[in-house]
Amino acid sequence: MNASPEPTVLVTGATGTVGEFVVEELGQRECTVRALSRDPPADDEHAVAFDFTKPETWGRAFEGGDTLFVVRPPDITRVGSTVNSAIDAAIRSGVHHVVVLSVLGAERNPLLPHRRIERHVADADCTYTFLRASFFMQNFDEVHAADIRERDELFVPAGDGTTSFVDARDVAAVAAEALTEHGHVNRAYDLTGPEALDYHEVAAVFSDVLGRDISYRQPGALAFGRRKLDAGEQPGFVLVMLGIYTTARLGLAGRVSDDVSWILGRDPRPLAEYVADYRAAFTPATGEPATEVAHVQH
Ligand SMILES: NC(=O)c1ccc[n+]([C@@H]2O[C@H](COP(=O)([O-])OP(=O)(O)OC[C@H]3O[C@@H](n4cnc5c(N)ncnc54)[C@H](OP(=O)(O)O)[C@@H]3O)[C@@H](O)[C@H]2O)c1
Repeated sequence: MNASPEPTVLVTGATGTVGEFVVEELGQRECTVRALSRDPPADDEHAVAFDFTKPETWGRAFEGGDTLFVVRPPDITRVGSTVNSAIDAAIRSGVHHVVVLSVLGAERNPLLPHRRIERHVADADCTYTFLRASFFMQNFDEVHAADIRERDELFVPAGDGTTSFVDARDVAAVAAEALTEHGHVNRAYDLTGPEALDYHEVAAVFSDVLGRDISYRQPGALAFGRRKLDAGEQPGFVLVMLGIYTTARLGLAGRVSDDVSWILGRDPRPLAEYVADYRAAFTPATGEPATEVAHVQH
């Protein structure tokens, strides 16, 4: 780690599902945080403009950075290998430790873009930590909230397969630890929730916590794709989702690891806690804007 008592931590994807919580976690640690995003708010002194596809933004974004959190944007068509080029630029600027947000099972899938980033970082002139995260619980409020709120249903083509859902807040807590503390150099962690659940069990948790009946529909790939496209999702994103739910349906998403508890010294959050904290996203509107996620406890 850097000899400096207050390292400067660079966070890409700082407005995203995990990155937002990473910035929040780092705010409670002894470090200087730089939140990188394409359109940073003018009134945030920690926010700096950064775009993986615009190398002209990299110099200012990376200057003086010690550690770097890498979030590969989910946009699969436009980012490509520029992520690796940006990482190289950050290392040339002085970054010595890179924490990569990766995907559970990446080590077994050489074609996965996250695995290509991992391999690039492992060969680069820096130390690293790979965070191979399972499926985020937050996908429910980001992608499926309307189905739950308006139709009382989970509409995913995941069959009877299980998934070891992890709360993005726990992934962020591990990331903050790896970005600022010793002991995580050149390690890869599998970040999962406490248990693997199939979507029948997920629906039961939602029903129990929300106090109304949420049912699990098992649409085929075509029906699922049609509904998501009709809802305005991009075709590339729908394909990614289909791939993810197929992985679950085939029984490949249910591995549970104790890495989160080992690193944080506490159990990962269970699904019921997530649903309770995000209750507003799944509750039919009563005069408030339906899409607003209010009172999320971080
Ligand atoms: N969703 C899951 O269940 C899951 C599980 C494991 C791993 N992952 C991985 O986690 C990563 C994040 O996925 P997510 O779905 O949670 O997305 P996200 O982090 O919520 O959103 C993407 C982030 O990328 C930033 N971004 C987009 N285009 C960019 C660009 N050209 N240059 C710089 N930043 C850019 C966006 O920030 P601005 O718009 O502010 O620039 C936003 O903060 C992905 O690599 C995904 O594969 C996801």
